[in-house]
Amino acid sequence: MKNMAKIYVLVVAGGIGERLGGDMPKQYLSISGVPILQQSILAFTNHPAISGVRPVINKEHQGYYKQISQDLDCLPPVFGGDTRQKSVRLGLESLAEFAPDIVLIHDAARPFVDSELIDRVIAALKTSKAAIPGIPVTDTTKSVKDGIIIETIPREHLSLAQTPQGFHFDVIMKLHQQCVDSAHFSDDASLCEHNNIAVQIVPGNILNRKITTMVDMTKNIPHICVGHGFDTHAIGAGKNVMILGVSIAAGFSLIGHSDADVGLHSITDALLGAIGDGDIGMHFSPQDERWKGADSGIFLKHAAQKVRDRGAVISHVDVTIIGEKPKVSPYREAMITRLMELLELDRNRVSVKATTTEKLGFCGRGEGLAAFATATVIYP
Ligand code: CTP
Ligand code: MG
Repeated sequence: MKNMAKIYVLVVAGGIGERLGGDMPKQYLSISGVPILQQSILAFTNHPAISGVRPVINKEHQGYYKQISQDLDCLPPVFGGDTRQKSVRLGLESLAEFAPDIVLIHDAARPFVDSELIDRVIAALKTSKAAIPGIPVTDTTKSVKDGIIIETIPREHLSLAQTPQGFHFDVIMKLHQQCVDSAHFSDDASLCEHNNIAVQIVPGNILNRKITTMVDMTKNIPHICVGHGFDTHAIGAGKNVMILGVSIAAGFSLIGHSDADVGLHSITDALLGAIGDGDIGMHFSPQDERWKGADSGIFLKHAAQKVRDRGAVISHVDVTIIGEKPKVSPYREAMITRLMELLELDRNRVSVKATTTEKLGFCGRGEGLAAFATATVIYP
């Protein structure tokens, strides 16, 4: 191979996604807001070693393709055939005019392909005519007929084939043209195997799986829950108020069983709300002597641990303190630092805000302080 090989990519998207079903073909559905085909194309147009990317689409899907291709920096699409093998051959023929050295053939239905995997396939093509990513089989594997196991297949020599599958262009082009009428091959390496051309296996990535059924779609979408919390405490005699873990010399106090930290209480309730685990009063009874004058950081840490116990992670908390006095802004950074400590979160995952109520209502009249909070938790 030349050092600077000319590398082109086919992204085959001509299928109808029968096994996934639904109204829209699977490659045009979105995962995390981005259409699957768009993600697959972007993985290659963003890769520095690639000279051009050719999508192969179904003739019936032109309307869908138009919708997702506005900002894509790829070649115009060509139409595929009624099998994957035909779609690939038609795609290869459309690339001949560029005289590529190497072609990578990728299933549009594998949107999570990463650039290191692409690098591994390309690197292997320096010494091999064909290379594909594969992942070892880790489960005990059986061959089965009519619902009954025939035998256990030794798995040491088994590998699950992924894409992109890479080839010296002339080699795979010739094989596809020779095999136009022969048996149906479900991937391109099969044509090489059939013709005794060695195919190298490079490590694939378990995340680079193919979207085949609806289950493959839903397991990619993280479960996100948002909890809401509200708290208020009356103002009473005293020198200091505790707000978001910071003691402020306000010339008054807040009345409560614990340290009456209205901000931490509202975030605690938001976290508990996000995991559907009751409220602060259920976890820390105001009748319980243990919590008399307690640091409300204890309550917040407890709620954060409850979130983690559910296998979820805290993505973000946002709190608004409501009152005319004290002015919160001089203490905002100290409050954020305390929340970062208590919740074990980065700076950009914690937000502290404050507002007055323009002297309206109980907060405006200086009878109490209030706080609203939201907490976002993600079940990965
Ligand atoms: N493909 C293609 N042309 C075909 C059939 C499949 O380009 N005639 C593409 C698909 O769009 C997909 C890849 O080949 O990106 C792998 O195929 P598969 O996962 O089987 O997708 P579909 O054929 O669309 O799905 P199904 O088999 O469930 O109908
Ligand atoms: Mg198919």
